[in-house]
Amino acid sequence: MKEGFRGTREELKEAIAAQPQGTVTVLSSLLAVQDAVGYLPGEAIEEVASYTQTTVNDVWGVASFYTNFRVDPPCSHNVEVCWGATCHVLGAMKVVRAVLEAAGLESEGDVPGGNASVRLNTCLGACSQGPVISIDHGLYGKVSPGEAGRLVSKLFDA
Ligand code: FES
Repeated sequence: MKEGFRGTREELKEAIAAQPQGTVTVLSSLLAVQDAVGYLPGEAIEEVASYTQTTVNDVWGVASFYTNFRVDPPCSHNVEVCWGATCHVLGAMKVVRAVLEAAGLESEGDVPGGNASVRLNTCLGACSQGPVISIDHGLYGKVSPGEAGRLVSKLFDA
């Protein structure tokens, strides 16, 4: 079960202020928060606006432009399925269908209850091993649809 943000505004402020680079932007600040707490809680939008002396609307504009930002707490497991060109040629669409079926999803997204999220990725950086999936940042190459489905189903065994 996913839970809301349980940290403090101080944690968010520290993540934003701790950026080591010389140029701090709204984008870099949002990235710093997501790296620190896994997503962008509403409080983070306010803190980034305050730190960068912009408005909440401006910060939301940046946050909503980039699809890699999460505004919900992360799920327990993170599944990514590559459907990039190389993996596509090597059968990725059958793997995509198997993973979605195992997760009980129609398309990419979060499984209700927050146990896992399934995202499509345009390249997981292991093209020679295609088709490729990633589960909790561990890569599985030359994966068959059946194997991919079994790996994802295991996430729901408890
Ligand atoms: S295209 Fe799938 S890993 Fe690169």
